[in-house]
Amino acid sequence: NWTMNDFIDLQVEHIREVVGDKKVLLGLSGGVDSSVVGVLLHKAIGDQLTSIFVDHGLLRKYEADQVMESLEGKFGLNIIKVDAQDRFLSKLAGVSDPEKKRKIIGNEFIQVFNDEAQKLDGIDFLAQGTLYTDVIESGTDTAQTIKSHHNVGGLPEDMHFQLIEPLNSLFKDEAREIGEKLGMPEELVWRQPFPGPGLGIRVIGEVTPEKLKIVRDSDFVLRDEIAKAGLKRDIWQYFTVLPGFKSVGVMGDGRTYEYTIAIRGVNSVDGMTADFARIPWDVLQSISVRIVNEVEGINRVVYDITSKPPSTIEWE
Ligand code: XMP
Repeated sequence: NWTMNDFIDLQVEHIREVVGDKKVLLGLSGGVDSSVVGVLLHKAIGDQLTSIFVDHGLLRKYEADQVMESLEGKFGLNIIKVDAQDRFLSKLAGVSDPEKKRKIIGNEFIQVFNDEAQKLDGIDFLAQGTLYTDVIESGTDTAQTIKSHHNVGGLPEDMHFQLIEPLNSLFKDEAREIGEKLGMPEELVWRQPFPGPGLGIRVIGEVTPEKLKIVRDSDFVLRDEIAKAGLKRDIWQYFTVLPGFKSVGVMGDGRTYEYTIAIRGVNSVDGMTADFARIPWDVLQSISVRIVNEVEGINRVVYDITSKPPSTIEWE
């Protein structure tokens, strides 16, 4: 009769046993998974945990501040926030291949993390928010790699840590349940999944500050409208994508030639398969009107009506 409460008690006990009086380092991404690991570890070993939160400049609007507020502010986690936007952007300049982008972001993440970790003394363990799904899709368990999810197996070779992955037997919905049981705020627990490479894989092709701003601002409008429509908990994941081509439009008396924004909304249990979300037309209309009006550089909005498979959830 295995329950989530048992899971927490067992993990806390197990973590205490394994860690003893040693120190643990956690890479916080701002997502549900690593946040839950943070709170779980803090419950188990308190100040023996140090967390590093890398702002890679590919986060959603206001996300970095919200993460700091909800974890450092409310749970008392000891978080080192690293502003690494420039490092990531310069590494990504001129690169348009999706897998190359993923690898660059993943590697840079490890570099930044490594640099910060070197400044700390006496760390023996590294904790990660890896889920069961990440393990599978990265091909650790299976022959085929679909996309190189960047929070798996990225341990730098010159760092001799032992790995702690308390959630690696859980699916997303189970990780959320753990978060709720730990008393984490709904906003954090029900935060929709967000990929490690962030907005970097939602700007198709080369990532530039201008394109990032378009994706970030349109994503903000989308989330705001979904919230206003009361659909936040009804759609598993929703975001905007900038495909990067321009098309002709008309505004006022004038011809426009601007970018198209794609909206992606899916329902899923674990991200392995997904069905495109049936967002009501009127909600899609409000989203479309606001994006075109409020986000500079957009004159067309389309809705992605493919499921997974054959598409993946993210476009890259
Ligand atoms: P795909 O695009 O593979 O996405 O259908 C499935 C789910 O995984 C998320 N995703 C990632 N999560 N690191 C993550 O932690 C990654 O590199 C990554 N890539 C995709 C995606 O947002 C979706 O929820």
